[in-house]
Amino acid sequence: MFLSLCFVLFIIVSSQNIPDPRYAQASALVDAKLYFFGGKLKSGFVTSGVWYLDLESLSNATMYSWHRGPSIPVAYYSGTSCVSVIDNSTVFLIGGIMYTPDTPNLNFDSKIYIFDPNKPQWNLPRFINGNVNFVMRNNIQAVINKDDRIFIYGGQNFTSNNSSNTMYNDVNLLFATDHNNIIWETLLDTDSTSTPLPPTGIPPTAHFIQYTATLLSNGLIVYIGGIQETKATSAALITELKLFDTNAYWWSSQNVNGDPIESRAGHTAVLAQNGIIIIYGGYANRNNTLYNKVTPDVAKLDTATWTWSAPTISQANAPPLHALHSAVLYGNYMIVAFGLNVSGSTGLIPDNNSLTVSNNIYILDIQNYSWVTTIPAIPTTIPASTTTIPAGNQLPDNRILQIEIGIGVGGAILVEILSFFGYWYYQRRHQDLNSNYFIYKGVYFAFILSF
Ligand SMILES: *[C@@H]1O[C@H](CO)[C@@H](O)[C@H](O)[C@H]1NC(C)=O
Ligand SMILES: *[C@@H]1O[C@H](CO)[C@@H](O)[C@H](O)[C@H]1NC(C)=O
Ligand SMILES: *[C@@H]1O[C@H](CO)[C@@H](O)[C@H](O)[C@H]1NC(C)=O
Ligand SMILES: *[C@@H]1O[C@H](CO)[C@@H](O)[C@H](O)[C@H]1NC(C)=O
Ligand SMILES: *[C@@H]1O[C@H](CO)[C@@H](O)[C@H](O)[C@H]1NC(C)=O
Ligand SMILES: *[C@@H]1O[C@H](CO)[C@@H](O)[C@H](O)[C@H]1NC(C)=O
Ligand SMILES: *[C@@H]1O[C@H](CO)[C@@H](O)[C@H](O)[C@H]1NC(C)=O
Ligand SMILES: *[C@@H]1O[C@H](CO)[C@@H](O)[C@H](O)[C@H]1NC(C)=O
Ligand SMILES: *[C@@H]1O[C@H](CO)[C@@H](O)[C@H](O)[C@H]1NC(C)=O
Repeated sequence: MFLSLCFVLFIIVSSQNIPDPRYAQASALVDAKLYFFGGKLKSGFVTSGVWYLDLESLSNATMYSWHRGPSIPVAYYSGTSCVSVIDNSTVFLIGGIMYTPDTPNLNFDSKIYIFDPNKPQWNLPRFINGNVNFVMRNNIQAVINKDDRIFIYGGQNFTSNNSSNTMYNDVNLLFATDHNNIIWETLLDTDSTSTPLPPTGIPPTAHFIQYTATLLSNGLIVYIGGIQETKATSAALITELKLFDTNAYWWSSQNVNGDPIESRAGHTAVLAQNGIIIIYGGYANRNNTLYNKVTPDVAKLDTATWTWSAPTISQANAPPLHALHSAVLYGNYMIVAFGLNVSGSTGLIPDNNSLTVSNNIYILDIQNYSWVTTIPAIPTTIPASTTTIPAGNQLPDNRILQIEIGIGVGGAILVEILSFFGYWYYQRRHQDLNSNYFIYKGVYFAFILSF
């Protein structure tokens, strides 16, 4: 087996450990580690790869520190993830479009994957009270409350390239009694008898996806933007928000005044202090073309007064307009990562390969609304006890492994080479195949293969 690999020609391309550009990945912040799950690459390849960025490394713009995590059991995009509020670490990866890794075969074996970052490993939950109405959903956003109840509105069903892409108008409620057993209930959108009870109030009349969902401290979920089912009529209006009360299972509508903020989908939202929601990016849907530019790129929603405002922000260090990216709030910094760069787009159909895909990180200081490239070593809101030593037995990222091939190849070098190919073989079986490279001891190897 290894002999046939001797013809592999490998080149060290970089000592930097940086994931490929991607979009529609899921993300989750656990302590100071910002995880990214799956995503679609520019080539159209859907990855099962997991990466995390050590946010403490953002204190030095030249030293952003990336690490790999164990791959998801499926190639994954357009799903959603959330972190247990009870243990602050278990990640629930829910819905999404899933394939058997490295194949074009859709794989909906599980509706949820559970990631334990401490081990680290992936687990499948065992469902109890799984409901009959649920079918696979994508382009959703989950929120999780203080009791680890997960709420998911609507979503789209994806079956094949020719699917009719049904959009749903229900609320799914997942209750993770423990992390192996999940109670799954659908709160139906009709007044038929559903378990535990149907939502009341004014449910959304038009189904929508690619929205953001933000849970306020009073138990209200604020749904912002999205694309409506009737695509010709553009996005869900950002001046008329849908709210879902997680205590009373009650839908309502909320008009919002203030600065003109263009309606959008594929944006992100984070909750800052005092009930301020900050949104970034996204695209507008016009004349059945997606990825039209929206303005402004950053907007603030004050949920105490229900007013929009557009902060004045210098363009220094600002990202080109992104959509289908990730964003989290870390201390006083909104971190924007990956996604489609739609800054030059004038409206394209989905999957147009002229789209620019990003692997950049952008940081918005929300104290004074300025884009910055570094953040102080330890933000005041993050416990100082978080360690700066990478978890697990990560090896240094910046080491160039010298492979010496000479006449007197020593035993140690032979062991290293066997270990190298063994690791490569493992990677081929377990990691992304998309990139024609892999990592060995923190070093990137790209190769040209002839088999
Ligand atoms: C950032 O890292 C680079 C490379 O290690 C180093 O040369 C530089 O001094 C660091 N900057 C700061 C502000 O620590
Ligand atoms: C999880 O985080 C919250 C908020 O920071 C904290 O109050 C809680 O004690 C944490 N729980 C655990 C188990 O660490
Ligand atoms: C979907 O279409 C793409 C490109 O047309 C193709 O590569 C892929 O195999 C198709 N997937 C399925 C599941 O049919
Ligand atoms: C998508 O919807 C169709 C029709 O409702 C259903 O038959 C199918 O099972 C759904 N697909 C998945 C993956 O759940
Ligand atoms: C997908 O749609 C095209 C065009 O409508 C049709 O020719 C093709 O047979 C369909 N494929 C499947 C698998 O249904
Ligand atoms: C939609 O297309 C029509 C015809 O091409 C054009 O006149 C109209 O301005 C477009 N509308 C928007 C919102 O771009
Ligand atoms: C974003 O896209 C624009 C227009 O296509 C391009 O000019 C710019 O270089 C891109 N920026 C990045 C960071 O990819
Ligand atoms: C993709 O985008 C390019 C550049 O905007 C455009 O010329 C082309 O027609 C688009 N293709 C499709 C299939 O939309
Ligand atoms: C915003 O605050 C940061 C530090 O808190 C500072 O470095 C930066 O210069 C400020 N930017 C503006 C535009 O005031």
